[in-house]
Amino acid sequence: MPKIVFLPHQDLCPDGAVVEAETGESILDAALRSGIEIEHACEKSCACTTCHCVVREGFDSLAESTEDEDDMLDKAWGLEPESRLGCQARVADEDLVVEIPRYTINHAREH
Ligand code: FES
Repeated sequence: MPKIVFLPHQDLCPDGAVVEAETGESILDAALRSGIEIEHACEKSCACTTCHCVVREGFDSLAESTEDEDDMLDKAWGLEPESRLGCQARVADEDLVVEIPRYTINHAREH
């Protein structure tokens, strides 16, 4: 089974974490299953950026992002070339190293 190494994040997993993932599972679902509460404001429907992750290793093993995903990512805080939406990026057969950005922008919560 592929593994996902989550790098330390001050609130969500201060010491980092290693998660066993199923092939085909989204990065977000693997994290949530393991108690890493990445936000998912739009309930995984590719309509927010709160599940933004940066795939530091293994990025090329993932299926390419769709145009909808790229459009959302354009609005993400701290966008990088290896950014993905955690609910859209599905684990393939390679291990991943994932960084959860320090900030998220939740457009739904802005007043
Ligand atoms: S949870 Fe909103 S895009 Fe992933």
